[in-house]
Amino acid sequence: MTRQLPPQRPVTIVELGAGTARFTQLLADIASGVVYAVEPSQRMREVAMQHYRSGVYFIAGRAEAIPLATESCDAAAIFFAVHHLADLHAGAREIARVLRPGGRLLIAGSFSDRLHPRAYYHYIPRAREIEENLFPNLATTTEAFGRAGVTVIALDEVGHEVSASLTAYSARLTHRAISTFEYLTDDEIDRGLAQLAADAAAETNPQPVHHTHDLLTLEKRCATRDVPIRRAAGKCLD
Ligand SMILES: C[S@@+](CC[C@H](N)C(=O)[O-])C[C@H]1O[C@@H](n2cnc3c(N)ncnc32)[C@H](O)[C@@H]1O
Repeated sequence: MTRQLPPQRPVTIVELGAGTARFTQLLADIASGVVYAVEPSQRMREVAMQHYRSGVYFIAGRAEAIPLATESCDAAAIFFAVHHLADLHAGAREIARVLRPGGRLLIAGSFSDRLHPRAYYHYIPRAREIEENLFPNLATTTEAFGRAGVTVIALDEVGHEVSASLTAYSARLTHRAISTFEYLTDDEIDRGLAQLAADAAAETNPQPVHHTHDLLTLEKRCATRDVPIRRAAGKCLD
């Protein structure tokens, strides 16, 4: 995120689908500026506000109708939420509207045509099939934003440790806090989690569980394609 956000400081960021603000504080720290955390669910916002810190504003809203002024943000972020948008094209147009020319959009998550391995695929094989339909594919996503004038500049893979051991991973999955699980039957989940718990109990040499996500970075075009663009420090000069 540090590498892909605009380099100047402070930056104003809108985070769409901020949920319980898992990443909001990190964004605010990196931005040295204001973060508008937009989230439609009142319950999510209530939990998020328990982590309130200065410089973060929690706002009721959706990506398709962002309650912020035109060209008010240097960057936008959507983390693990782009598949929740009811209308990707409307979301893309709104994000393009609130971004300043040269502003960046960071999308973290999964794309259906380039799913990375997940430990839970081994225990609940149908989860992968569901994710092939649940997430948008990369081309659809880049095309929707491209039409709105926000074009791809980088695609990074970000690896992280999900749990320190299979036992910790097994405990984590009992919360079922993965959107994919909503499309599985209780029986499928119970069987998979039982097998995972058994493997965890047999673990003699605990190994961390790692996952990889995609981080797609896009930039709002500075001007029409016919006009030469001079740029400095991430800002458009003309
Ligand atoms: C899987 S959660 C991710 C939350 C947070 N970004 C994170 O990574 O922890 C997806 C979030 O998107 C929100 N959401 C659903 N529809 C949305 C929309 N149209 N615009 C913006 N956010 C939406 C949900 O309420 C939920 O909080």
